[in-house]
Amino acid sequence: MKKAVYPGSFDPITIGHMEILQRSLEVFDEVTLLLAVNPNKNSVFSVEERLEMMREATKNMPGVKVDFYPGLTVDYCRNYGAKHLIRGLRAVTDFEYEFQLSAANHFAAPDIDMVFFMSKKENTFISSSTINELNRAGVDISPLVPPIVVEMYKRKTK
Ligand code: COA
Repeated sequence: MKKAVYPGSFDPITIGHMEILQRSLEVFDEVTLLLAVNPNKNSVFSVEERLEMMREATKNMPGVKVDFYPGLTVDYCRNYGAKHLIRGLRAVTDFEYEFQLSAANHFAAPDIDMVFFMSKKENTFISSSTINELNRAGVDISPLVPPIVVEMYKRKTK
């Protein structure tokens, strides 16, 4: 069975992430959506809230698992038996960051490779912080996120 890991901070998960996940399932039999930790980020949603949104958004997708790992993503890959890490590229500006991340991962684990999918052009402006900002400003973000994310924002403001 060909397994892969799609890591991110998913704060929150968006239709951009869902698109990459769907496309990765055409290449891999099983993909774990991994909530990983970027120490440079302050999150809006807790780990539990983000996991709940990730689980709900993917509940009807056979072949998808959801997990959390606080350490190095490549260590998770090895324990899980995956040789590939998935990432999405939205624009040229993502490239430099992804190039550095890929080099760091390769240094730590030369046996793990990264696979990149280019976002559809209509999704290239979407990022989690853009969603958070638009939502804070009162813009309807429902076309850009799975329905559970809209629910979670409502729950948070109650
Ligand atoms: N659609 C929509 N948004 C997308 C996207 C897509 N296809 N692809 C990326 N993004 C957005 C994310 O929403 C996020 O937006 P934000 O910055 O506004 O939150 C941004 O692009 C990139 O974030 P993400 O993919 O979540 O990665 P990250 O940079 O926050 O974290 C980790 C990357 C978590 C995978 C990485 O830090 C990691 O692996 N951490 C664990 C420790 C480790 O192994 N470090 C690496 C070696 S040092």
